[in-house]
Amino acid sequence: MKILVLAGGLSPERSVSLASGHAVCTALRGLGHRSVVIDLFLGLDPMVASTDAVFALPMADGAAIDSTAPDLQAVRNCRQFAGSGRIGAGVLAACARADLVFLALHGQDGEDGRVQAMLDLMEIPYTGSGYLASAMAMDKVISKKMMDTAGIPTPAWEQLVYTKADIPQLASRLALPCVIKAANGGSSLGVYLPESREALASALEDVRRFNATVLMEQRIVGREFTVGVLGETALPPVEILGNFDYEGKYQAHGAQEVCPAELTPEQSILAGKYALQLHHALGLSGYSRTDLMLDEDGKFWCLEVNSLPGMTAMSLLPKEAAAVGMGYEQLCQEIVNQAMK
Ligand code: DAL
Ligand code: MG
Repeated sequence: MKILVLAGGLSPERSVSLASGHAVCTALRGLGHRSVVIDLFLGLDPMVASTDAVFALPMADGAAIDSTAPDLQAVRNCRQFAGSGRIGAGVLAACARADLVFLALHGQDGEDGRVQAMLDLMEIPYTGSGYLASAMAMDKVISKKMMDTAGIPTPAWEQLVYTKADIPQLASRLALPCVIKAANGGSSLGVYLPESREALASALEDVRRFNATVLMEQRIVGREFTVGVLGETALPPVEILGNFDYEGKYQAHGAQEVCPAELTPEQSILAGKYALQLHHALGLSGYSRTDLMLDEDGKFWCLEVNSLPGMTAMSLLPKEAAAVGMGYEQLCQEIVNQAMK
């Protein structure tokens, strides 16, 4: 198959997406597909006109995640380079020539449903979920409402609507410890764990860099897990140990992951049940990955679902697949198969 891998975009997860995209493209080539990575906004040379030329192109360099270059800087550089930030005709033409678009985008510009809607209008098949489910999963406020409606346990939360002048009052009202989150964050970017009123006030100010919609979530103390769904099957839960912030997620010696997690069989089944429930409640398809906490009383709390979970060498879904004997290439093929159903 001719499979175009879309990656990059201008979200703060741009470099994670590029790493996912290059890993996926390499795997698809290993499976015998004709595959190429295209950066959503930078695209390819618009002079590359023919299908053969597009799919004969070598992969671009630069997939490595460079933790010394913050993603936001990369985004700024990209904006400068891309000029308008609009998708170019070359990218649209390349999509139209593919048999399938493999979405390796994370965050806004691709995990949020807008690219899916565009591909729907172009009648081009793509991997993962449709536009509405993607948009709902990306928006943490809407996801919380859907979890509440579906009876899926999720920590108490509140959408915070405020101006800069309201911050002192808000910082003295909210209960600590809490979590402050940008509604559309990913990879822990735009997530704050304030321990003091001062830290809370600065979190309320800083979080706006990521998104105007902000939510407060009760902080659950306990163990952190994530559970993938592939097709209609929940994969084994992974436990995350240590500091699972952006650096912890993508540095070789960052957080540690235990897969399969040390849980009782009943607990593993329950975590998988919640991941499937949330996948269904939002209408997700193909695959997803739900993040959960297990509190000190043994109760699970769902935090959020990722509709296009990371596919880098460090990412969690490939580890869960490996735990059931499914290698990375096979996982990519299965995601392709799900999209072609
Ligand atoms: N948002 C990142 C890519 C993940 O969920 O894996
Ligand atoms: Mg996420």
